[in-house]
Parts: sequence; C-alpha cells; structure tokens
Amino acid sequence: MTQISRITLARFISGKPSPEDFRLEHVDPPALKEGQFRVANRFVSADPGTRSRLSGSDSYAGALKIGDPIDGFGVGHVMESLHPDYPVGQLVTLGSGWANQAISNGRGYCAKLPDLDVPLSAWIGVLGVPGMTAWFGLTRIGQIKAGDRVLVTSAAGPVGATAGQLARAWGASQVVGVASAGAKSDWLKSEAGFDAVIDYNSPHFLEELAQAMPEGVDILFDNVGNAMINSILRLMRPFGRIVVSGQVADYSVPLSQRPGITNTDRFITHRLKMEGLVVFDDLRAFPAAQAEAAAMLQSGQLKLKEVISDGVESLPAAFCALFQPGAEFGRRLARL
Ligand SMILES: NC(=O)c1ccc[n+]([C@@H]2O[C@H](COP(=O)([O-])OP(=O)(O)OC[C@H]3O[C@@H](n4cnc5c(N)ncnc54)[C@H](OP(=O)(O)O)[C@@H]3O)[C@@H](O)[C@H]2O)c1
Repeated sequence: MTQISRITLARFISGKPSPEDFRLEHVDPPALKEGQFRVANRFVSADPGTRSRLSGSDSYAGALKIGDPIDGFGVGHVMESLHPDYPVGQLVTLGSGWANQAISNGRGYCAKLPDLDVPLSAWIGVLGVPGMTAWFGLTRIGQIKAGDRVLVTSAAGPVGATAGQLARAWGASQVVGVASAGAKSDWLKSEAGFDAVIDYNSPHFLEELAQAMPEGVDILFDNVGNAMINSILRLMRPFGRIVVSGQVADYSVPLSQRPGITNTDRFITHRLKMEGLVVFDDLRAFPAAQAEAAAMLQSGQLKLKEVISDGVESLPAAFCALFQPGAEFGRRLARL
C-alpha cells in the first residue's frame, strides 16, 4: 500500500504564514475498519479560512495542535472500501486534509459525485465549498433579487468571483468588485462580467468606490474583514444586507488587535442587516445548487479560474500566496 504523504503544522503561526510553518510527512497507512473507505485524492485545495486554526488560539472551527494534519478539501476515487455504499472506483469529494489519501466513513463533509460533465477539480471549486459559499451567501443571507446593486470584496478569489458571476446571472443591476489592480481586475471585467473593479490599495479607495456605485450598495458580500466592512457601511442603501463570508485581512491578526466596526449608526438609519455564514449549514441544499451551478459552468455563465501546482508538498506555498495581495489568482489546488 502506498504511504500517506501529508502536511502537518510544524509550529504555531503569528502574522502571515510561511512555508516553514508546515512539515511534509510520510507515514504508513492504517488498516481500514468496518464501515470505512480509503480515497486516493486527485486534487486538494488550499483555503484561506484554514489560517484561523493555525495560531494555537481557538477559532470557530477549533485550533489545530502542533503535528496535526492541515485541512483541505479533496476530490478523488475510492481505492479500498469496507463500506457498502462506497465501492472501489466511486468518485467522491470530502474534507480530506492536505494528503494524497484520506480515510472516511461517509459522514461529515463527504459526497459521491453525480454524473455531471464538469472538470473533476470543479468539485472543490465552483461546485464545492467556495462556490456554495457564494451561492448561499447571496441567496439565504443576501436575499438577492433582480435589480440589486452588489459589491463583492476579494472579488477575484474563488468565492468572490463566483458571487459576482451569480449576482450578474440572477439579475443584479450592478456588480462591482474590490480587488488588487492589474490582471485580477482585468479578468473580472473582461471574463467574469463585473461592471467595475476598485483597488483597495488606492489612497482614494472610498471615493473611487462611491463614484462607481453612486446609488449605493444593496448587498455587500464581504470576504475581507472588519475594516473593509466599516469603511463600506457609509455606502449601504436602505434595507441593505451584509454577508459576512470571510475575514482574510483579519485571520493573521490577533483577536485583541483586530479593527472594530464603528459606523453602526448606519444600521439604524438605513435598517441594515449583517449576518455571518457557515456554508455547512446549507449542506442538504448543496446537490440542487451544484446541479444548477454545473449547468452554468457548462454554458459558460460561470468561469473556472484555477492555479494548479503539483504534489502535496506544493500546498504550503499555495496557501501562503493567498495572503500576498496581488499574487497569481484562482482557486489554489494541488494535483496529486
Ligand atoms: N463562511 C463560510 O462558510 C466560508 C466558506 C469558505 C470560504 N470562506 C471565506 O471566503 C473568503 C474567500 O475565500 P477564497 O477561497 O475565495 O479566498 P480568496 O478571496 O482568494 O483569498 C485570497 C485573496 O484575498 C485577498 N487578500 C489577502 N490579504 C488581503 C488583505 N489584507 N486585504 C484585502 N484582501 C486581501 C487577496 O486578493 P487581492 O490580491 O485582490 O488583494 C488574495 O488573493 C475567505 O475569507 C474564506 O475564509 C467562508
């Protein structure tokens, strides 16, 4: 049996992550127990939310200990099985960790892939957790309707880019992104159908945003964090909705040093709502949304943007790049 190659946490991280914070290990695979199956991963993802678990302090998902395997989503096929519902050869997606193989009993985040004509990697991208985050953030929390003016932050990431494209497809009257200038901004406008993209590094960021959205924002889909939300609050329209999806600017900042949200008077005067999302709350609704998103992918309404590296050992660098604004962009995946 092939050895397990996996990445573990070498030391607690303070500030931005670096590849030295991780360790590559090769271990013998344990024997399967009754009701378990072993998956050979073909693609594994690097996800920014993982950062919140790597500092030794608690996060909503629970802190990892030194030596723990790192989280990631995988897609692959069952290579050995003692589970009647998961025969050898079955394609699955699951929370696999950064490893070439994963053992599962089918519970938790684990699903058999339906027979849809989409690239395998899409199951951990547009059709996986990032895509579903965009989908249920806009629908369940954002309550999107035709005519809404939608603003998406970290717009070129897999969550943000999907949110913008979905908003466009569902009849938003304006879709604006916040992202670094250059290739990201160009792709969002030319390929993903954003009306405008504003660079948050500009000294005139807020003025430029206000000019781009003179009538204000109905839905703010935020992937960045407190300071971003605080600055955009002034642009929210009456009855606006703020989807708190992620906090990529805050994950590396200790809790006590994170910026606060102070412009809260706008919640009263404009009857705003702000709600956090944990996409796994919508797990039962994934299959229907995935089938619709797959059709959009096939028709070209949704675009796949990926940065694929080779081998489990490439995942630490792929992960660290998520915290370097302006780095090459797209869903960060390792091909195994
Ligand atoms: N709530 C849920 O259930 C759920 C599920 C999955 C993911 N999420 C969250 O959704 C968010 C987006 O995920 P994703 O996979 O699509 O990642 P992502 O947006 O691609 O995250 C990486 C990008 O964040 C931007 N960034 C990094 N540091 C920044 C900073 N200090 N200020 C502003 N932007 C910064 C960079 O883009 P630029 O070059 O444009 O700056 C970078 O390329 C994440 O925060 C993730 O944790 C939430």
